[in-house]
Amino acid sequence: MMVKNKIVFFTGAGVSAESGLATFRDSEDGLWNNYHIEDVCTPEAWERDKELVLEFYNFRRKQCQEVLPNLAHFKMAELDDYFEVIIITQNVDDLHERAGSKNMIHLHGELMKSRSILDDSLIYVQEKDINLGDFCEKGYQLRPHIVWFGESLDEKKINTAIEKVKECDVCVIVGTSLLVSPANMIPFYLRKSAKLIVIDPKDVKIDFIESDDYYHLKTTATDGMVQVFESLIKNINK
Ligand code: APR
Repeated sequence: MMVKNKIVFFTGAGVSAESGLATFRDSEDGLWNNYHIEDVCTPEAWERDKELVLEFYNFRRKQCQEVLPNLAHFKMAELDDYFEVIIITQNVDDLHERAGSKNMIHLHGELMKSRSILDDSLIYVQEKDINLGDFCEKGYQLRPHIVWFGESLDEKKINTAIEKVKECDVCVIVGTSLLVSPANMIPFYLRKSAKLIVIDPKDVKIDFIESDDYYHLKTTATDGMVQVFESLIKNINK
């Protein structure tokens, strides 16, 4: 009985870049170069101007519905057939799911969901715009199901993500600057003996992670994932 290797993909905006979704901070067309975080992605922004916040996420939700998963998403999903794979993503798009990935942890929320401002557990599939006056079943305004700056991440998700990194054999970090905490501390829990692969065309500050078996594929997510897919499959029975 082949012992299924455990693989963790830790992804950020760069994995969706080739689908046409802007990243946040790595180029002049990054989202945070065109919007101020404090205007659209904080609880204070929500209190100050709900309509601007809703407009920002309605725009991003529409954009997400207009693009398709890319080869990197599909290659990760295909590995479900060969290994025990989990995707821990900072992304709020649903491209991993649309490529077929099943085991997901969305650390920063999901664009295609909304939730009640009264009760965080009232979460809804959200394909259309959210507007002022769109209420949950208890009569309270709906908001994007997104973790805003200054809000805490779901404790259970963080702990599960840490456990998955601790027990994995291979961790592949794709398309993240690793600049935003506490998400960026999750890869820190990797065992020294586990294989660590980074796929990113730029240098990524990763020296806080100790690994005896580290590769940086300085290329795009699609190109890097084809290489990773082939090397994982080739070594499957070794
Ligand atoms: N393939 C792979 N990596 C890429 C590509 C690509 N085609 N294009 C860009 N990248 C890399 C960049 O070099 C950069 O390292 O993707 C990374 C994107 O970094 P950020 O824009 O900082 O995005 P991310 O790390 O996901 O941001 C984390 O910040 O604003 C918050 O909540 C938001 O989840 C987000 C978090």
